[in-house]
Amino acid sequence: MRTMRIPRRIGGVVVGTIGVLLALLVLGGVPKAGPPAGLAPAAAESPPVVAVAAAAPAPARSPSKNDQPTVQIGACDGGAPVEVSKDLKGKALADSLMDQWKRSHPEANWVTEEKEKHALKPPADNSGLLKGAQGKSHTYGNYTERDILLWARETEKFVAEGSRIFHSADLLGSEVAVSCDMCHPHAANTHPETYPKYQVQLGRVALLRDMINWCIENPVRGEKLAADSPTMRALEAYILSQRKGVPMEYGKH
Ligand code: HEC
Repeated sequence: MRTMRIPRRIGGVVVGTIGVLLALLVLGGVPKAGPPAGLAPAAAESPPVVAVAAAAPAPARSPSKNDQPTVQIGACDGGAPVEVSKDLKGKALADSLMDQWKRSHPEANWVTEEKEKHALKPPADNSGLLKGAQGKSHTYGNYTERDILLWARETEKFVAEGSRIFHSADLLGSEVAVSCDMCHPHAANTHPETYPKYQVQLGRVALLRDMINWCIENPVRGEKLAADSPTMRALEAYILSQRKGVPMEYGKH
């Protein structure tokens, strides 16, 4: 019954039992040598798979940081709680939490990369909300450092997604490989602060999203977006974020 077990351990590789037996017998003695002539490639690859499975013990995870007292803290994303040193407070604690979160979410690095690559402007600093009396007569009650961090991170991610789309002809669905930044580097001349305003191209009062769609359909040659589509929302967010500090002046030409 040995012949039946081998293919199952290899896991999904469909090979004739005779071929596998031959390969194991021949290659078992000469692990690094090239396969003898006449062996099917699938069978020739099988032995290393078996060998790796057999020779891979659970990875050693010995170093523990239990040399100082720790506290468990809920993660910003509602995931499993993390352990941090009891001595950490304020900014140092936030940095430590963020650091742990980043290590368990390596894919999240794209936000940082997008921020650096395109010099994205940061959202407003809300840490002032933590000072002074909170709670009483405050619309939303008490804020924590964790709230502030979460708001900033989520907002940055939203904006970074818009930046990614703004700079990508593919994500914009352009038929002519044109992206927004080719004419509006860093969202220049998009003037979101002037909306609503009368747009001659459209012959009516337009919102920012109408002009985004105008440019998608005309210079970019892509498909018009629904007003509430995630792509449109992200583009709006990015364009607005890049005009941080510019006073609103609707109707201005
Ligand atoms: C080939 C160059 C080109 C590309 C590519 C382009 N635009 Fe434009 N965009 C223009 C021109 C030209 C105008 C018109 C300016 C005007 O009417 O004042 C404009 C106007 C705008 C406006 C209104 C600006 C204002 O002053 O009110 C917005 C918003 C805008 N574009 C966003 C985008 C977005 C988002 C993209 C990518 C989807 C994009 N544009 C791609 C050339 C381009």
